[in-house]
Formats: sequence, structure tokens, C-alpha cells
Amino acid sequence: MDRIRIVGRRPLQGTIRISGAKNATLPLMIASMLTDQTLILDNVPRLADVNLLQRILGNHGVDIMVSGKRPGETALDGQTLHISAANIVDTTAPYELVSKMRASFWVIAPLVARMGEARVSMPGGCAIGTRPVDLLILALERLGAQIEIDGGYVVARAPNGLKGGEISFPKVTVSGTHTALMAAALADGETLIENAAREPEIADVAECLNKMGARIVGAGTERIVVTGVPKLNGARHRVLPDRIETGTYAMAVAMTSGDVVLEGARPELLQAALDVLGEAGVGIAKTNEGIRVTKNGTGIAPVEITTQPFPGFPTDLQAQLMALMTRANGTSHITETIFENRFMHVQELVRLGAHIHLDGEKATIEGVEKLKGAPVMATDLRASVSLVIAALAAEGVTMVNRVYHLDRGFERLEDKLSGCGAAIERISG
Ligand code: EPU
Repeated sequence: MDRIRIVGRRPLQGTIRISGAKNATLPLMIASMLTDQTLILDNVPRLADVNLLQRILGNHGVDIMVSGKRPGETALDGQTLHISAANIVDTTAPYELVSKMRASFWVIAPLVARMGEARVSMPGGCAIGTRPVDLLILALERLGAQIEIDGGYVVARAPNGLKGGEISFPKVTVSGTHTALMAAALADGETLIENAAREPEIADVAECLNKMGARIVGAGTERIVVTGVPKLNGARHRVLPDRIETGTYAMAVAMTSGDVVLEGARPELLQAALDVLGEAGVGIAKTNEGIRVTKNGTGIAPVEITTQPFPGFPTDLQAQLMALMTRANGTSHITETIFENRFMHVQELVRLGAHIHLDGEKATIEGVEKLKGAPVMATDLRASVSLVIAALAAEGVTMVNRVYHLDRGFERLEDKLSGCGAAIERISG
């Protein structure tokens, strides 16, 4: 198993290219199943999760061709996928695959909408919480699907097609909103989605679906209206930049008192996080290339945040902010409201010398003057990268184990950081 070795205390300086968003790429790839024509996606990040979803979709008969590099392109340019779901050969998504990546459960929506049936394994719990799928099922039921739970599988049937309806989510859910949008796109009649998630990735998927011929109005707001169409077509779409990758590197720069341009980043995708960094004393400026992040040596001011659905502070940046606050000049408070168990990084940060007290969903972080390198590991993607951030500021060597979590969601992390002066290397085996 690969590990990452970091020698801390070097300021990051230079430019980091921001990749396409993982959490838009995955639903966009799944949305390709709504049409028998080719969907072309540009700016797709090279990530383990993208490769895994490619295999999962292949099981349903989806063909994916990856374009070769064009002249002038570097290894850091996103890839282009040509996705064709001309023939769906299997409407079952087995446990062995869905349990490896929760988002693959979302294939249930295009399968039932286009094929009239889907049999998809329930994903089970995961490292950050119980993560049920009841609201995805509710959305499909509101559109007329008959649902049965059979041997760990959700079986959804709509032999005469789905019918438009009203879906009012009792809780804001990204997965529920993606499911509702995809299913409603091919339903007969109008669907109203209320209390929809407003994450930029929802708007990006809706924009792509509209290019494919869907009629979706209001994506990115809490009220979305979808007028179903009988058939969707092929289209070409560029994946939006990854706001979580952007925020992660911004925090890494702040942690090392660096000066880095995050190329291709869009500030409006993570304004809440940038505002918090501003409060902490980090310089944030919009430039023609993206966002410039600067931090002088005057120390980090403590902050108080609560994770919220977009446009609030994202849960996917909670661990990274906590790493930054381990070195603040004072006490910070972080409350996690989205996932009940998303604090696995706490004990590992403590191993590096952080002072953190956990009380249910609240973490109190007392800033310390210095962190010291140690072997660490984490069991999810964002927790793992928070350890990298801490290691960049720690004295001596930190060895981050279980690097495969990082590979799921951060493209060429060690290349991007070493390109800005970090002493970071991957050790194979
Ligand atoms: N929830 C339910 N029932 C449901 C669905 C969700 O109770 O049927 C709950 C969840 O358990 C959670 C809350 O609602 O407590 C929010 O879940 P949501 O559906 O919004 O999250 P998700 O779609 O499963 C996506 C991202 C996550 C990100 C969350 C929140 C993808 C592939 N995943 O998950 O990303 O944390 O939205 O923004 O888009 C990550 O990238 O590391 C990651 C975990």
C-alpha cells in the first residue's frame, strides 16, 4: 500500500492548477445513462473514483472512451470522456460494486427512468456516518416508481414510465436532489422539487442535462421545476472546477504561510469558506487566473464555524479547517451538522500534537505553537487530506498511510504540492 512522506515547515509558493470537480463528474457520468447518444465530458479529473465508476457503468453496458492527450496538453489538464449508453445490458447494480462507492447507488434514477426497472444494492453505512438512502427512494416514489426492498437490494419499477410529481425533501440532500433531477428529466409531465440542495454541482449537472434536451429551471436554488421530455440527446459539457480541492489548497497555503495562485478556481463556488479564511487572517484575492492565497507570518486567528448545506460552510472542508486551526492563536469551535461521525481526523491530528476536545458534534480546538511529525492514517478522503495539511506545518517527518483515500478525490496531490516547494513524496508498496 502506498504511503506519503512529508517533511514539514516549507512555505508553499507558486501555482496550483485546480482540477474538475469529483462530485460533479460522478453524477454527470451517471446521467449519461439517460440517453442512447454519446455524452462528452471535458475537464474530468484523473481519480480512483472516476475509474471505479467507469467500471461500474461498464457493468450496465456503458462504453467509455478516454481521449488521448492533444498537442500542448500537460498531464495536469483534465481528460475527456466519451460516454455511450446506447445499450443498457443489465439493470442490476450489485453489492460488490455499490459498496465500493456510495454514489454508484444513484444509477437507480436513470435506470428506472429509461428502462422502467432497476435493482440496486443498498450501499450500507460508511466511515463518516450511517448515510441512508430513504430520501432517494422517497423521490422515486413521488414520481410513481414502485419500490421494494429485496435481499439488500432496492428494486424500483415503473413499467409505464415515471410521472411528474411533487417532491418536498424534509432535509436538504445532494444525493436526493441528483436522483430527483435525473428521474424527473424523463418523467411524463412536470415535477416540482422543493427544499432542493443548492450545491454548485447540482447546477452543473442540471446545465448538462439541459444541453441534452432536458427542461430544468431553478437548479442552484431550493425550488426546481422539471418538465419531463420523452427522450434526451447527446451533448458536450465541461466539468466545473473542484471547490473542495480549491479550499483544501487554500488552507494548505495558509498553514505554511505561503503565496499560491489556485489556477482555474472560482471564488463564488466557495465564498463561505473563503470568508472564514479571511477572518482567520488569510489574504484572498480574485485574479484573472483564479484565486491568489497569501499568508504572512503573523499567525492564524481562531474561528467559529458550523457546517451547512451550500451556500454555508461545506462539511467537505471541515477536517481541513480543523487542521489549520490546530495552529491558531487561540481557541476555535467547529460544529459538524451534516454527517454524524465525521471526526476521524481528530485523534490523528492529536497524534501530531494538536489539542482538540470533542463533545458530540462540536470540536473545540486550542491552537498550539507547533505540531510534530508522526505516522498517521485516516479512513476517509477529506480526513486524510487534513493530515497532509497538518503535516505540511509539522516539524520533522509525517508518514500518511492509506493513501488510496487521497487518490479517490485529489488528482496528483503530491505533484501539485511539491511543485510549490513542499517536501512530499509517495512511497510505493
Ligand atoms: N441523508 C438521509 N437520507 C438520504 C440521503 C441523505 O438521511 O436518503 C442524509 C445523509 O446521511 C447526510 C445528509 O442527509 O446526513 C446529507 O447527505 P447528502 O445526500 O447531501 O450527501 P451525499 O449526496 O451522500 C454528497 C457528496 C459528499 C458531501 C455531501 C454533502 C458526492 C459524491 N458526495 O454526498 O462528498 O459531503 O454531498 O455536501 O457528491 C466527499 O466528497 O468526500 C463527500 C463525502
